[in-house]
Amino acid sequence: MNIDRRGFLVAAAALGATSLSGGILAANAAGGASLIELPKLPWEQSALDPVISGNTVGFHYAKHHKGYVDALNKLIAGTPLEGRSLVEIVRESAGKADKAAIFNNAAQTWNHTFYWNSLSPKGGGKPGAELVSRIDDSFGSFDDFRRAFLTASTGQFGSGWVWLVLDKGSKKLSLIKTGNADTPISGDMHVPLAVLDVWEHAYYLDYQNRRLDYATAILDKLMNWRYVEDNLGKS
Ligand SMILES: [Fe+2]
Repeated sequence: MNIDRRGFLVAAAALGATSLSGGILAANAAGGASLIELPKLPWEQSALDPVISGNTVGFHYAKHHKGYVDALNKLIAGTPLEGRSLVEIVRESAGKADKAAIFNNAAQTWNHTFYWNSLSPKGGGKPGAELVSRIDDSFGSFDDFRRAFLTASTGQFGSGWVWLVLDKGSKKLSLIKTGNADTPISGDMHVPLAVLDVWEHAYYLDYQNRRLDYATAILDKLMNWRYVEDNLGKS
């Protein structure tokens, strides 16, 4: 691969981090098979400090997220899934016992990219009037939504995710919880708008076992409402 091609792919990966595609296909160094790439973080590693420390982001991104990407690429190498998009890999492996490892690593790759983009150093507070109106219509009020979000965050037993989604049937916003690697993109009922990672690795260095404090701080100070608006606009 020449330098220009490589540079293009790196730039494309950075742009892709804000899209539903989540992972980017890139030719490997040998110029042959395609790999799923780890998208760049949408901000500097320490940008979320002190709500989430640079130390937590460093471990979470460079160890956990990268670990899922690396494991996925090993698992799909030489299989019919090599060269497919990340979303296709998630959907084609979902619910298949013989592809559980591929699903877990593919879904975790996608979920983490979506999580990073759900956070912003300029986030938190209340969204704009139009989105507040959608939240009021769906949850009763912003305060009701806030309570429901925090209840869902602490109510997810063990590892998992709390998603703000658009319910395709009712057209209302909703909160859903998924365990372990499960993700709404494996089905067709919900459009994900934002997500909170409630695996302990997301908060233990900063908050130890205080998941409620972590969820509260994320919602109040980092929630990327612009990303929610963008995802609603695409739906
Ligand atoms: Fe995580």
